[in-house]
Amino acid sequence: MPVPASSPLCDPAVPAPLPVGRRVWWRALAAALFVVGCCSGALSARPSLKEAYKDDFLIGVAVNPDNYADPDSTDARLIKTHFNVLTAENAMKWSSLETAPGRYDFREADRLVDFARKNGLYVIGHTLVWHNQTPEWVFKDAGGGPLARDALLARMRDHIRTVVGRYAGRVQAWDVVNEALDDDGSLRDSEWRRIIGDDFVQKAFEYAREADPRAHLYYNDYRLEHAPKRDGAVALVKKLQAAGVRVDGVGLQGHVNLVWPSLDQLDASISAFATLGVQVMITELDVDVLPGTKDWGDADVRRREAADPAFNPYAKGLPADVQQALARRYADIFRVYLKNRDTLGRVTFWGLNDGDSWLNGWPIPGRTSHPLLFDRENRPKPAFDAVIEVARENRPAPRPSRR
Ligand code: GLA
Repeated sequence: MPVPASSPLCDPAVPAPLPVGRRVWWRALAAALFVVGCCSGALSARPSLKEAYKDDFLIGVAVNPDNYADPDSTDARLIKTHFNVLTAENAMKWSSLETAPGRYDFREADRLVDFARKNGLYVIGHTLVWHNQTPEWVFKDAGGGPLARDALLARMRDHIRTVVGRYAGRVQAWDVVNEALDDDGSLRDSEWRRIIGDDFVQKAFEYAREADPRAHLYYNDYRLEHAPKRDGAVALVKKLQAAGVRVDGVGLQGHVNLVWPSLDQLDASISAFATLGVQVMITELDVDVLPGTKDWGDADVRRREAADPAFNPYAKGLPADVQQALARRYADIFRVYLKNRDTLGRVTFWGLNDGDSWLNGWPIPGRTSHPLLFDRENRPKPAFDAVIEVARENRPAPRPSRR
């Protein structure tokens, strides 16, 4: 049964999730979500991820429209059973929402927000300002030349105001700026930066705050476990804080593989952001088991690799030893997450099942990837059991009964 629209969980007056330092509130939320899960019959005999981690952090998933089009599909039931937060894989990116100046298409994003509302799930808006999946017209004037700083700022503000304003109270948090940094920790040479200047990040946060003062606002990036980039992100957040800009959280995307990052790197990064007083989120977790490309920058190399079966070794399924390696890796990673449970607000997987993963097409197209906890038929993999087991290992022993 869906959560009635009058449920406090669906009430726009409910505070945005996970205010820093207010874990008591969030534990109450987790308990409420548990009740919702039970009432809806969404929890099956299979252990539930969100239930296993209910005292630790929220468990999210990035979804595509097929996952929730039919609320009774296996995908939708899996979402309701295991997750309490949704991120749109693509539906809220600029290129999906504003296809031409001032021409918005909210249909898909609305469907996702409705699905979330009916099922008591939180939504993370992803993402407002990014160098990718942003149409070229955004940066151009009517004559096709580069837009002036003020005009681009006005466009950014208008987009943020329209999008964040529309979902105020229904989308509880936003990845305001995505991937502003290069690997060395300096600001990336994006069109946002070239036209506006280094303060484009600050402006994006200010506009988002003004559009929904109650939403939680995050900076999100990949490879934040890499020390120079992590240090750059720490410096960026400190600079924003010094300028009086409130940043509620930092998202470590968490696109990792079987060996990178080391557990120490992961732990150090979570701790580094925790010292800033912001919440830390793992926002796009997947563990790649496929060989990497030899040249990320060369599309021809990647095309050649696509034709080479050596780059697609598990097209017929994941062998047992690799399944076990994946399970061990997930367990190790979740132990680090649990160690940091007071800082970590959420762990979101980037895709519901292996068939949904972007890693089937990136960096080498046409491969068969196995990076998530559910296989292509939505069956839990050994990695799923390993993650559940880590949660169990860490539970306090039940109190002896008093007679
Ligand atoms: C980045 C973005 C995501 C997604 C992934 C790849 O990490 O933040 O929105 O596009 O790349 O799918």
